[in-house]
Amino acid sequence: MKLFYVKKSDSCWIVSVLGIKIKIKKAKEIGILPITVYLFDDISVEKITCTSMLPKNMKVCVDPRLTQDEAKSNVLKIHKSFRARGVRVEYTYGCTNSLCVLEDSTTGSGIEALIIMMSGDKNELKIDKGTAMNGTKIFLGNGSKCFIGKNCIFSYEITIRTTDGHVILSKDNGQILNEQKVPCVIGDHCWIGMRTIINKNVNIADNTIVGSGSVVTRQFDEQYTVIAGNPAGVIKTGVTFDENTIYTYKKGTCKC
Ligand SMILES: CC(C)(COP(=O)(O)OP(=O)(O)OC[C@H]1O[C@@H](n2cnc3c(N)ncnc32)[C@H](O)[C@@H]1OP(=O)(O)O)[C@@H](O)C(=O)NCCC(=O)NCCS
Repeated sequence: MKLFYVKKSDSCWIVSVLGIKIKIKKAKEIGILPITVYLFDDISVEKITCTSMLPKNMKVCVDPRLTQDEAKSNVLKIHKSFRARGVRVEYTYGCTNSLCVLEDSTTGSGIEALIIMMSGDKNELKIDKGTAMNGTKIFLGNGSKCFIGKNCIFSYEITIRTTDGHVILSKDNGQILNEQKVPCVIGDHCWIGMRTIINKNVNIADNTIVGSGSVVTRQFDEQYTVIAGNPAGVIKTGVTFDENTIYTYKKGTCKC
């Protein structure tokens, strides 16, 4: 019997000392995070480097065309109480220096089946505390920004695009006509109906209800309204909502 030996396989090293074997998994198997990730709460911030330390049911994907340094320039900050049930953050071609902040989601029903896709330099996304989502896709590109407020309810199959994806040019002088001009902002306590599409340069004021199937294309600065349609316009003013069903609200079991 050898007193000491090291044996290598594709996934691990086996170190044997006096017959006692220790298996050391290689980094590839443990999963080194290709981007810069922090877990935070009100008290501390902790840098993590392994995929196994991400919240359960959360994935980070990086386009293989990004160099290691380019990929690492992207920062993802995740609150320690971020509740994910199927969240994927994708850093696609040319995505560098981008920031994504996912806040505490314990007070709402959590974040389910969320896909975030970023391309290009210096994008920024924040999903604030208590906002609930189910099947939302968020696309950011060309250094665009998207801020989603606190305690919002996102219904099913919602898409947010802070940039059009392709360029529209003046045929006469080649000037770009469709650049995003302002960040996409969704205020606090908004209820976004199912299958809504939110395009670039959009502002949705706090306490807004967006009707299902709407296409939101501009700024809505007045609070307590319902906006709906394609393109969305104001259909009601002076209204608010409660996340309970009508049944539970009438029974008096709601929070308000
Ligand atoms: C936005 C919504 C909540 C508003 O309900 P409401 O206040 O009762 O609105 P009303 O039914 O009185 O409609 C008012 C007007 O807006 C129009 N309208 C309502 N929702 C619309 C929509 N999504 N798109 C276009 N127009 C709409 C109505 O046709 C009506 O027009 P009219 O005055 O010309 O007849 C509701 O229409 C809706 O979209 N519900 C779905 C919410 C959802 O996605 N739930 C999933 C679970 S989270």
